[in-house]
Amino acid sequence: MATKAKILIADPLSESGLNPLSDPKFSIDIKTGLSEAQLCEIIGDYSALVVRSETKVTAKVLACAKNLKIVGRAGVGVDNIDVSAATKLGIMVVNSPDGNVIAAAELTLALILAAARNIGRASYGMKESKWERKQLVGVQLKGKVLGIVGFGKVGQHVARGAVGMGMKVIATDPYASASIASRLSVKLTTLKEVLETADFLTLHTPLLPSTKNMINSQQLAAMKPGHSIINVARGGLIDEDALLKSLQEGHTRSAALDVFPQEPPFKSPSSVALMAHKNVISTPHLGASTAEAQHAVAVDVTEQIRDVLLNQLPRSA
Ligand code: MLT
Repeated sequence: MATKAKILIADPLSESGLNPLSDPKFSIDIKTGLSEAQLCEIIGDYSALVVRSETKVTAKVLACAKNLKIVGRAGVGVDNIDVSAATKLGIMVVNSPDGNVIAAAELTLALILAAARNIGRASYGMKESKWERKQLVGVQLKGKVLGIVGFGKVGQHVARGAVGMGMKVIATDPYASASIASRLSVKLTTLKEVLETADFLTLHTPLLPSTKNMINSQQLAAMKPGHSIINVARGGLIDEDALLKSLQEGHTRSAALDVFPQEPPFKSPSSVALMAHKNVISTPHLGASTAEAQHAVAVDVTEQIRDVLLNQLPRSA
């Protein structure tokens, strides 16, 4: 009997998303929460590895992966995978560029509304029997300016929703399509104008050396007093200490954060201090966490893995 190709699922994945791998030529192991050392110990047996964002596929892990042909990232960002180490070793890295776009955009819109209307603080107060009607007067979104940094698929879907609520939307992105922007009634402009004009700022860029701490004390100072900041993209885009200072001074009115430089963030003093601030809403990296998105990203990567292991080209190659 021919040997089966072994596939390791190292982060929780939608069960239905594994269907493309139900082939007698494959054997699947689901082992989540592995440390780098544990992963190094077992990875040598596997032909394919599937991760979300929790598992870090480091150069060390890849060096131990003697039979690995492909790593699938069930999501967009591949920042938890050492792609250059994988490339040097001839290991293919595939992702799901579209599967969770709507989920991330919808969470962004939810957080814009929550930040405008103090929903986090109000809900928390109710659990403590606090009826804070006077303290929690919010702001209306209609007529306010939403500044979008990164006008890719997520940024565009956020724009659709915001325009629908009567917001004026401006965006900055060196690669943005002018025709898509004009179709969505979005003005493309510079980061400077976005910062100076936005009442609400939302980030939709990857974390790269060039975008790390792109929102720092200088950028915050350039923003209008009373602005709100939403980050559903990557922790590390915002300098957390600078944001906390701006909130404490009342220059930033509120912030809604789904992502943190270290996740979970509970051992990071700057994240903990930020999450504790009364005008900060925080969520545990839920951008892609809808049933639909989890199914879609899992199918996207498992289909590509199936095709590679069966010696075909993946769709995104
Ligand atoms: C992504 O990069 O796709 C999102 O951050 C969602 C996730 O990590 O699962």
